[in-house]
Order: sequence, then structure tokens, then C-alpha cells
Amino acid sequence: MSATIIDGKAYAAGLRTRIAKAVGELSREGATPGLAVVLVGEDPASQIYVKNKARQTAEVGMNSFEHKLPASTSEADLLALVARLNADPAVDGILVQLPLPKQIDTQKVIEAIDPGKDVDGFHPINAGRLMTGVPGFVSCTPLGCLLLIRSVRRDLAGLDAVVVGRSNIVGKPMAQLLLSQSCTVTTAHSRTRDLAEVCRRANILVAAVGRPEMVRGDWVKPGAIVIDVGINRVPNPAAGEGKTKVVGDVAYEEAAKVASAITPVPGGVGPMTIACLLRNTLQAACLRRGLSMPMVDAAQA
Ligand code: GUN
Repeated sequence: MSATIIDGKAYAAGLRTRIAKAVGELSREGATPGLAVVLVGEDPASQIYVKNKARQTAEVGMNSFEHKLPASTSEADLLALVARLNADPAVDGILVQLPLPKQIDTQKVIEAIDPGKDVDGFHPINAGRLMTGVPGFVSCTPLGCLLLIRSVRRDLAGLDAVVVGRSNIVGKPMAQLLLSQSCTVTTAHSRTRDLAEVCRRANILVAAVGRPEMVRGDWVKPGAIVIDVGINRVPNPAAGEGKTKVVGDVAYEEAAKVASAITPVPGGVGPMTIACLLRNTLQAACLRRGLSMPMVDAAQA
């Protein structure tokens, strides 16, 4: 069997087009959505993410407010900025880029964000809403994964899903989302006994561990849908000395021979994260204006 390659880049582009249309309608009413992104310090990966976010925010017609603060910023100063953004009527969504410098308590900052502007879905109120099946903001990467899964299979009820990884940002919300789709969900992690055997039970296998190519082809059940959240930079001696390449958490070539559908790295889950951030910002803007959310994605159905 040769797997369908799930094209996250194309799906994200389509999602952004639908978001842009909805943003255009809001803008004609003088209600352009606004997203504030806060970057503290100079982490290179975070700088790239924030730059891409600003570009894509502008491309869909939203207002982008960037706040770049030095690495030495105090927790009190960051909390004061969050309070200003909470109170700013032009700001619908707030994203504080993680990781934060050591002197700042990340959880305190997350909990300071107005849950109605928490487009990352990291606030415990939004995590709790997801857990209890109440509408709220869902963390962007797992939301993107669910959209990609449902692009190849709409009805997931009764399927065995295994999520490898238990982070608050990806693993735990991913498991909740799959449960909300009536999957039978297992959350596996570094202490799971016989991880390969657990993975082999999965009709849907989501790998979010940050270990290059850890999930091998013989861990994949024939016909499974495989979603690779990993973005790992590894040496690539074949391309020359000192060269690197990006690989996922799944051994792609091996897994693609067994799976029915699989996300590539790059070009799978990665492009979905910012598209879902824009989707959540549109949702925040609609909510704050008392409007219903336009249909922009399959996760709403
Ligand atoms: N750092 C890496 N991924 C993310 C994300 O999705 N949101 C935020 N705020 N920080 C991140």
C-alpha cells in the first residue's frame, strides 16, 4: 500500500483563503480583527515563527500588533503589557510566544491573558472547556492535526487513536479532541511500556514527542492515519559537511509504506499551526462582537 500524502501546506492555504473572506466581511463593517503577538528575547526559532505569523496575519487582512521585548524583561513588565492588551478593544487575540526567559513564570503569564482573547488555547479555562465539551479556544497545533485527520476521514467514531506525547500544548489537547470525536484514545509517553505495541493498535497515530524518526514503520498498523507533529533538525551528511535537514518524529519512508494516509515533514502539520491561530483570532473577534463564527473549517461540523 502507498499512503495518501496529507498536504498540510495546501490545506492551510485553503483555510487562510476562507478566513480572509470572513475577515473582509468584518472589515467592511469597520470591525477588522486584531492579533497581538508578544516576543520576549531573541530565540531564533521564536523570531521566525513571529515573523511568519505577522506576514500571514496581514495577508488575511487582520491587524497585527507586534510587541518585541528584551530578554531582560521583568515578569511585572510583561504582566503589565498583557493587562494593557486585555483592555485594548482593537486586540481580539493575544499570543505570548513561548518559551519565555527564566525570570518569568510562564504559567502566571498564561493565566493573566483574558480567556476570551486566549487564541493559543493555553489558559486553564480554555483547557477546561475543551475537557468538558464547552466551546472555547483550542490549542492551534492539535486543532490543525484534527483538521488534517478529518480531511481524509470525516467520521472518527469508534476508531482507536494513540497520541504519543503528553504536553499541555499538543499531546493532552490532541487526546481530548480525539475523544470529542468519539475515538478510543490512548495517551502514550516516555514511560509507556512497549510503546511500539501500543502504537500498532492505532487506527490514528499522532506522534508529538520531539524525537527524530522515533516511530518506525513496523509501529504502524496497516491502513492507519499517521500524523507527525515533530520538527527536528538533524545532520544531513549526504548534502555536504555541516548540512542539516528537518525530519519528523516518524520514519516517513517506512511508515508511508504501511499507512493509509500520512503527513510529511515539512509541509504537513507545521503550516496548520499559524492557519489555526488566525482561525482562532477570527473566532475571538466574532465572539467579542456577538457574531456567529463563519464556517471556515471541518472541525466546526
Ligand atoms: N512556542 C512554540 N509553539 C507555540 C505556540 O503554539 N504558541 C506559543 N504561544 N508559543 C509557542
